[in-house]
Amino acid sequence: MCFSRLKKEQLKEVMKRMMREMDRGLRVETHQESSVKMLPTYVYSTPEGSEVGDFLALDLGGTNFRVMLVKVGEDEERGWKVETKHQMYSIPEDAMTGTAEMLFDYIAECISDFLDRHHIKHRKLPLGFTFSFPVRHEDIDKGILLNWTKGFKASGAEGNNVVGLLRDAIKRRGDFEMDVVAMVNDTVATMISCYYEDRSCEVGMIVGTGCNACYMEEMRTVELVEGEEGRMCVNTEWGAFGANGELEEFRLEYDRVVDETSLNPGQQLYEKLISGKYMGELVRVVLLKLVNEELLFNGEASDLLKTRGSFETRYVSQIESDSGDRKQIYNILSTLGVLPSEMDCDIVRLACESVSTRAAHMCGAGLAAVINRMRERRSQEVLKITVGVDGSVYKLHPW
Ligand code: BGC
Repeated sequence: MCFSRLKKEQLKEVMKRMMREMDRGLRVETHQESSVKMLPTYVYSTPEGSEVGDFLALDLGGTNFRVMLVKVGEDEERGWKVETKHQMYSIPEDAMTGTAEMLFDYIAECISDFLDRHHIKHRKLPLGFTFSFPVRHEDIDKGILLNWTKGFKASGAEGNNVVGLLRDAIKRRGDFEMDVVAMVNDTVATMISCYYEDRSCEVGMIVGTGCNACYMEEMRTVELVEGEEGRMCVNTEWGAFGANGELEEFRLEYDRVVDETSLNPGQQLYEKLISGKYMGELVRVVLLKLVNEELLFNGEASDLLKTRGSFETRYVSQIESDSGDRKQIYNILSTLGVLPSEMDCDIVRLACESVSTRAAHMCGAGLAAVINRMRERRSQEVLKITVGVDGSVYKLHPW
């Protein structure tokens, strides 16, 4: 099979299958075997915008860990005002793949550093934690990690209460106190922050290192939680779609190579077609195949190009942003140790476009599933809605 554009009919089929798994994920009898987990978030309705005060916010889920100080105050014109100070900390490989204690000790160390820098170590601030992994919540401030994704592997975390792990690490340090009040997925955080600007935002989507979406679902159909009235935000965890074979006829040999050499083979198959953790690697595997068939680089790949992970996803964005003189493409390929002809540059660009276009189409099919479901549940012919979107691929890719 080769990389040709997915047809509208095929994308509609993906959408239909996604809608079916979403439905199965919400129902008590089918939840267990569904690939799309549809996790209740205990975020009942979007905020009023009347919450005021100082908060600490943590963001863990990509390659960096971020600590923020957020000041929410009254503002006469808009009704509220948010000011932030923030600091990024890169997560060392051994913290990502060691033990949960090591990871959470590192997080506590970063918070401690941040509090020192801003001279607020004496204050016990309310803390909100954006934790971008599948969590089965019992409440807004309590939930167990179902499984790691996106290259995280810290042992002893899966099956445990994430807020508990954080509180324990803070206690172990003993040099500051925090009041952990909420833990949300990044899709939920994105939806909520977009809602401050636009009251019709009821969907959040991330296309970054990983890919996922959340949306406001009617309470009566969230069978895992009691109550009939109003709406609750559901974290779809659609990245796991495909675990029941739903994507088999769409997955190509390159997808299989990328999956088999990943940290979590067989898992997050939909995410692996779309997100930044895998996009560059997919392109690399496609290029190697072309080299093997003597269609690229005179049939010779550099050692670097043969190395897993060497083709970073940001290269895909940069190559597709090339103005037409191929300079950018040439430079990137040179850093990868190959000296390309003009034709090579054009082929590489085409490979990037094929992979990213398919990613966008697949992601669009998922989003259509979410919004069509909302429209049907609300018995509307046309649903006008805003989707809050964030993530490195969304922000950096030119199209
Ligand atoms: C995680 C989701 C997250 C998404 C985007 C996925 O790998 O399972 O919880 O929302 O990445 O960060």
